[in-house]
Amino acid sequence: AGRKASIFLNGEQAANKEDDRPKVLILFGTQTGTAERFSKQLKTELAVRYGEGNRYEVLDTEEFKAEELHKETVVFFMMATYGDGEPTDNAADFYGWLVKASLEADKGIGNGKLLEGLSFGVFGLGNKQYEHFCAVGKRVHKALANLGAHPLVRRGDGDDDEDIEADFESWRTELYATLDKSDVLAKSTAGEPGVTQIVAAAETVPSYQVEILTGADAAGAEDLSADAPVSGSGINKDSPFLARIGVARELHSPQSDRSCVHIELDVSGSDITYEAGDHVGILPENSSESVERAAAALGYPPETVFRLSVPEGNAQKMAQPFAGGAITLRAALARYADLLSPVSKSALQALTAFADGEDAARLHRLLSPEGAAEYKAWHQQSRCLLEVLEEFPSIKPPLGAFFGSVMQRLQTRFYSISSSPLQHPKSIHITCAVVLETTVTGRVHEGIASYFLKAKAPGARVPVFVRHSSFRLPRDPAAPIVMVGPGTGLAPFRGFLQERAALAAKGTKLGPAYLFFGCRKRAQDYIYREELEAWAANGTISKLFVAFSRDGASKDYVQHHMARESALIAPVLKENGGGHFYVCGDAKHMAKDVARAAVTIVEQAEGLSTGAAEAVLKRMSDAGRIQKDVW
Ligand code: 2AM
Repeated sequence: AGRKASIFLNGEQAANKEDDRPKVLILFGTQTGTAERFSKQLKTELAVRYGEGNRYEVLDTEEFKAEELHKETVVFFMMATYGDGEPTDNAADFYGWLVKASLEADKGIGNGKLLEGLSFGVFGLGNKQYEHFCAVGKRVHKALANLGAHPLVRRGDGDDDEDIEADFESWRTELYATLDKSDVLAKSTAGEPGVTQIVAAAETVPSYQVEILTGADAAGAEDLSADAPVSGSGINKDSPFLARIGVARELHSPQSDRSCVHIELDVSGSDITYEAGDHVGILPENSSESVERAAAALGYPPETVFRLSVPEGNAQKMAQPFAGGAITLRAALARYADLLSPVSKSALQALTAFADGEDAARLHRLLSPEGAAEYKAWHQQSRCLLEVLEEFPSIKPPLGAFFGSVMQRLQTRFYSISSSPLQHPKSIHITCAVVLETTVTGRVHEGIASYFLKAKAPGARVPVFVRHSSFRLPRDPAAPIVMVGPGTGLAPFRGFLQERAALAAKGTKLGPAYLFFGCRKRAQDYIYREELEAWAANGTISKLFVAFSRDGASKDYVQHHMARESALIAPVLKENGGGHFYVCGDAKHMAKDVARAAVTIVEQAEGLSTGAAEAVLKRMSDAGRIQKDVW
């Protein structure tokens, strides 16, 4: 039913489509899964609201051919920003294409009206704590408009530091108001439901069908006693390789109250190749303590064996947590459920459907417009799913709803590789700070992946894959380099230095290399000290600067050393020189302060204004001579 909307299709498009209903495409660039979840939510709502007169499709930007964007009529973009204002991995190619097309249009090379036939909306996802808040969403919106596409709605900027669900909700409200008034989408005849109902009825929460298996049916179920059911080549996230842990040792001295572990992953027997500067993805497991608590909160023994299947017609609305084989609850919770990240509003909404009495009343209030302030305060306490289940003991979502709507999938964690293939072709080293923090509610949060790794003994197997990056030593080994990496920011530079040592051993002539490392106390967390000092002695490092932030009366940081060493650094930051500058580590504070120190050095050395010095560094960064690996 619904109004005919064939006006959106020109002849070519109509001929290209297997179905002549206009298509609404939702593309996402996601790192932790939020943008993907939002895309599915938008699709579900659009389908309810504007009905079957349109087709709706959610697609990973990675699976979309950017050159065919001009063939689309309506596209919504859910675009996350990552690290230092960059696109997520899955969106990198699409983003690169779009930005380039827009730049070419500016230069008159490309077609400034390429996307004239496209109507679009952009919702960006980011975190205000970072410098380049929602940079990718902003850039995508601008580039689309620049290529002649027509924005249907103001750009949305979602702030994960505050309440990203609320930001998404107000963006959708605005979007629907515009769509209701326009004839871009065929209208449903089924009335006009609002944005997602705050409290869904239990039977409307997308759920898997669950079969509990016993006896012979339960035999051979996936369990934690065996290795994870993967045995891929390790070249991408869909086929991780079970790497064997070779070495695992603590890097901090016993006096330190923190922990940082050095782990060597043996990848012999895989197709994995890597370069210094790449990342390794680890598929972690929740601790047995978290798993047991979650199983208790759900009201099932952890050894329960079950199988999930997708009910007819419902497939699109649910996360596919794992292939539908028999599995123990213990393995399902350990390997697939994100129990410890801050809980999302949509999970709360789904949970509310299964609450009653006092718990239901409290949750309803938190999710209602009147409860917005209370929700915000509550959300800022970073409650995780496990805590919420325990805080509201009456809520026992059925397993089908728990895996279909409540939980988010446990995410891959990435580490900067701290070795070089020239020295360790089949061993990947990581330098992993073990995360241990107390949240506002007093919960002690143990980082999932770091505890997972720390608990592994040599010989254990861990699913891994390599993600290639562009963080690279200069092609010319004689080019001078500056590396700034306090804390575990040292990791990729250890790889760079191994590489330099191997090159030098072969007789390659190397340019100067300056390393700025920082830690709290010389006697506690000066990691890889012997290696660094040996490299400084044999010239692999030309000069080593170490800032100890807690040994003296006042903070001594890497950027303070940079300021003192401006005579060494300025030539490397010369625009027409051949130098390269690298920074790795904390993005929220350190990388910003280091960037400011670099600006000051260029200002003073070249006699430039702050703006002009920033422009120099921006151009060097565009040319790949300044690179960041920050988080
Ligand atoms: P701090 O914890 O004593 O403040 C590695 O984490 C090192 O980086 C620590 O010595 C830490 O010092 C330091 N650090 C913290 N904030 C920083 C900043 N804004 N710039 C540079 N280093 C910083």
